[in-house]
Amino acid sequence: MKGKHIILTGFMGSGKSSIGIKLSYRLKRVLLDTDKLIEKKENKSISEIFETFGEAYFREQETILLEKLQEETGPRIISVGGGTPMREENRTLLKALGIVIYLQVTPETVYERLKGDTTRPLLQGDDPMEKIRTLLAERKELYLAGADVVIDCDGKQINDLIEEICEAVKGK
Ligand code: S3P
Repeated sequence: MKGKHIILTGFMGSGKSSIGIKLSYRLKRVLLDTDKLIEKKENKSISEIFETFGEAYFREQETILLEKLQEETGPRIISVGGGTPMREENRTLLKALGIVIYLQVTPETVYERLKGDTTRPLLQGDDPMEKIRTLLAERKELYLAGADVVIDCDGKQINDLIEEICEAVKGK
């Protein structure tokens, strides 16, 4: 691998996709999005994959893809699904790929950004805010355990976040 990839992790709605796009322009690197790669391979949306094959199948696809990405030359920006760092195996694979950035947000920010969203199967139901709070609380320690750099994103402009990330990865 030539140079380290930059990996963006974080809860749903933390801004991985939009930050990934801006960062790819800024650093002139190709952006890879694991959700999109899985959707393409399966020729189905994430919701359809969950419905048809179940969450466990999707989780298996995430790990298989991370294994495959170890061969990727680059360096790239890689944005991964919100649940990817939950498996220990995946945290190891992510660290082997490069610098893992955890985009940290509060449940309130996630709720504001994702209310009305229908594309996240894990947040559907009567009380999305409760689901966000519970899942985020369950996951927080594992996001932190898997990260090389933590960026607090609440209330910040995207351009400032890009600067912060560039500064954090400089010389790493
Ligand atoms: C998930 C996050 C989603 C997607 C799937 C499961 C999760 O990606 O991988 O719906 O478990 O947090 P985003 O974080 O890009 O929304």
